[in-house]
Parts: sequence; structure tokens; C-alpha cells
Amino acid sequence: TGRKFFLGGNWKCNGTQDSIKKLVDDLNEVEFEEDVEIVVCPPFLYIHQVLETLTKRIDVAAQNCWTGKGGAITGEICADQLVDVGVKWVVLGHAERRHFMGETNSMVSRKAAGSNLTNGVVCDQLQALVSKVPDWIQVVLAYEPVWAVGTGKSCTPEQAQEVHFSMREWIRKNISEDVASYVRIIYGGSVSSSTCNGLARQPDIDGFFVGSAALNTKEFVAIANSVK
Ligand code: G3H
Repeated sequence: TGRKFFLGGNWKCNGTQDSIKKLVDDLNEVEFEEDVEIVVCPPFLYIHQVLETLTKRIDVAAQNCWTGKGGAITGEICADQLVDVGVKWVVLGHAERRHFMGETNSMVSRKAAGSNLTNGVVCDQLQALVSKVPDWIQVVLAYEPVWAVGTGKSCTPEQAQEVHFSMREWIRKNISEDVASYVRIIYGGSVSSSTCNGLARQPDIDGFFVGSAALNTKEFVAIANSVK
């Protein structure tokens, strides 16, 4: 397809300095396939530790950012600060933030518009983003059916392919033919070593966004190898 396979490991709100050291040491030992782009998303507090110790083969993402410039917004981190410390990616609009923090499409689209990060990982609710995203080449879209997130129940390859295909069709009609051909649409929701191969073979699935299996390097590597 010409779209580079993308693997995101979302560590969510997991880890300690020690467990993250172990995870990073394990990842540093691995020789990943060249044709996979890999990004891990540590909790904010550990981003510095990961940037200092993780192999440059793997990029680092934040799991969220503020909607605009910094200032008097207690407890938030803005995109400029992520750029300042060398973080190139951010996850926006994850279903867990919508659920627990009440994030809305409008907030997510403001984040996508205001973020001067070079890349963004954006989950679902496409319509809200259409006019806001400054440059689609910097975006990876993640489709995650909420019933599959953290449940151990994954979409079948056919079900996921159907949705990814419809998303690409929608992009073709509402954004452009060009964006539809290059934008990567990745699947998330209980991806594991046992489900990844069938999913990875689908023509419109361009990678995975992995939660719990990303905390286990053996699993994560098996998922990375599904590109073959
Ligand atoms: O961000 C990743 C997804 O929410 C998937 O999480 O693999 O634990 O189901 P999961």
C-alpha cells in the first residue's frame, strides 16, 4: 500500500521508575523489523526517563496535551512543552479520556489544531477534525471499538477491515483522494500475539495501537513481527 506499518505502545497509567527501566532495557535488546515505525507512550512523569534511556529506533509520544498555549492551566502540559523536551507525537482523543475526563470532539479538535507537534495520533470522531488538522501527513488515525479496549475481546479481521475501509472511503469523499491513500489507520483493542497476524493482513489496517500487550516486550515484539 506504500503506507509504513505503525505500531504504538500505549502504556496508559502504568509503571514505576523500576518497571519502566525494565521495559526500556527489554525494548533496547530487540532488533525490530525495519518496515515498522514504533512509538511508545509513557505517562508524562516518565517521559524524561524514557527519552534518556530508550533506543532512538523507537519514538516517544505523550498520552495527551492541553488544547492550546501554556499559561495558568494547573495540571496540564501544552504541546510546546512536549516539543521543548523532544517529544514528537501525542495521542489525542483516546476513548478513556473521553470516558473518564469528559473530553469532547471540540476539545480534541482544538488540540489537533493547536498542536505544533510534528505528528499526532488521533482516535475516531473524524468529522470534528476535518477542517482543523493542519497537515494530514502528520496524523495517524486509530480505530478502537470501546468494547474491545482492555477486555481481551478483539475485532475479527473482517469486522475491523470493514470499518477501516469505510473510514478510508469517508476520507476519500470528505478530505481527499490523496489523504485517503497515505493516511495510516491503525487498529486498537486487545491486540495480542494471537490476534495480530490476521488483522495485519487486512489491506486497510496499517498497524496497531496496543495497550496491555505493550507492557510485555515478548508480546509487543510478536505484534511488531506481524508486519511480515
Ligand atoms: O491505547 C490502546 C488501546 O486502548 C488498546 O488497549 O490493548 O489494552 O485493549 P488494550
